[in-house]
Amino acid sequence: MRRKPRRGGGRQAEVTIESLGGRGDGVARLDGRPVFVPLTLPGDRVRLRITGEKAGAFKAEVIELLAGGPGRVEPPCPHYGPCGGCALQHLEAGRTASWKREQVVQALARRGLPGEAVRPLIAVPPGSRRRAALAAVRTQAGVLLGFHERASHKVIDAPGCRLLTPGLTAVLPLLRAALAGILAPRESADVTLCETESGVDLLLISRRPPDLAAREALAELARSADLARLSWAPPDGEPEPVARRRPPRISFAGVAVVPPPGGFLQPSAEGESALTRLVLDGLPAPAERVLDLYAGCGAFSFPLAEHARVHAVEGDEAALAALRTAARGAGLEGRVSAEARDLARRPLQASELAGFDCAVFDPPRAGARMQAEAFAASDLPAVVAVSCNPNTFARDARILVHGGFALAEVTPLDQFPWSGHVELVAGFKR
Ligand SMILES: C[S@@+](CC[C@H](N)C(=O)[O-])C[C@H]1O[C@@H](n2cnc3c(N)ncnc32)[C@H](O)[C@@H]1O
Repeated sequence: MRRKPRRGGGRQAEVTIESLGGRGDGVARLDGRPVFVPLTLPGDRVRLRITGEKAGAFKAEVIELLAGGPGRVEPPCPHYGPCGGCALQHLEAGRTASWKREQVVQALARRGLPGEAVRPLIAVPPGSRRRAALAAVRTQAGVLLGFHERASHKVIDAPGCRLLTPGLTAVLPLLRAALAGILAPRESADVTLCETESGVDLLLISRRPPDLAAREALAELARSADLARLSWAPPDGEPEPVARRRPPRISFAGVAVVPPPGGFLQPSAEGESALTRLVLDGLPAPAERVLDLYAGCGAFSFPLAEHARVHAVEGDEAALAALRTAARGAGLEGRVSAEARDLARRPLQASELAGFDCAVFDPPRAGARMQAEAFAASDLPAVVAVSCNPNTFARDARILVHGGFALAEVTPLDQFPWSGHVELVAGFKR
């Protein structure tokens, strides 16, 4: 069956890139409409081909770079271009940092909040990603293991990925070889890898449960790659252990935590320490009781517990169980309490916030609108926001400012080098 060509598809044009869009793609104008051109940067003159159209904007690909804009550099990774893991390797690091910081300033401006509070960006170096979700598929050419192609389900094999830690990179060839004997032809799987202090924790997610031979191959992989733990899970199902060689351990302020298979952890140790330092800097002094909302398995709860009594709230039962076990193991039960709660549906209300000196909140990309409204309606004296989405952060910040908080300081953090992502920590005080 022939595919119906998309409107405008195939048309060629010459344009000058004017800006970068939110995902790091270059943006030009054609017929008065935005055209998004991956792998370009402001000042580039390109000949492009329109590949599609969405929400009033064109999508395009470069046929030829006619003249490079300022700050263009040679991308260091051999997989750059097709691989969807990175979007900005062709841009100088300093310019990427300015652009990411500006994303935060602009998001605040769109909500009527001043950009003066935004500090210079802290950047985590490439090669520091200790946690990564990769895709795998068995093809006729062997197993492909890496990130998806941009806007596609196609897997780009990325043995030379520059993002991952050396510890994760070393596991890839062994994992690829093991999957060749486990996946059926054309079968795909997802793999979450996390490098902990006691070794790599690997979670394989696939529709087909591993049979006896596959379990033996996975156990052999765990041995040859010296993994701490290897688990399997069906999509959206509970993980089950396949090989447990050592508990995968991460320490937060010296407290050893064993995260659940595939559980959330900050993607880099460097990013986690920077975030922790900024969170602690945002605490009012003295602070006796502090809330840690969206606590995960305690990355901030345990450092906060060195300064105050902490109540950690988290929606994921497995993460919370890890936090509780770690608190018990460290003899901190009297210092760190934990509550399982869906904060999107049941945010902590003003009456529950009474008596706390500060609330730290670190929601997923959707932000925490209802929780911000409850902060605004409370007498809480200080809030520290950690965010991976400047737009939802700015929305929630506006609610806090309306509720009488002043935005003290915003520090952008780049934990996802060469991508369009930017994170931040912000302090609010009444
Ligand atoms: C960005 S992570 C932060 C975790 C932790 N602060 C850290 O730094 O490791 C967001 C956390 O929010 C949790 N979460 C997501 N939606 C939630 C909800 N509706 N209610 C409570 N927790 C939720 C996730 O399970 C995850 O642990």
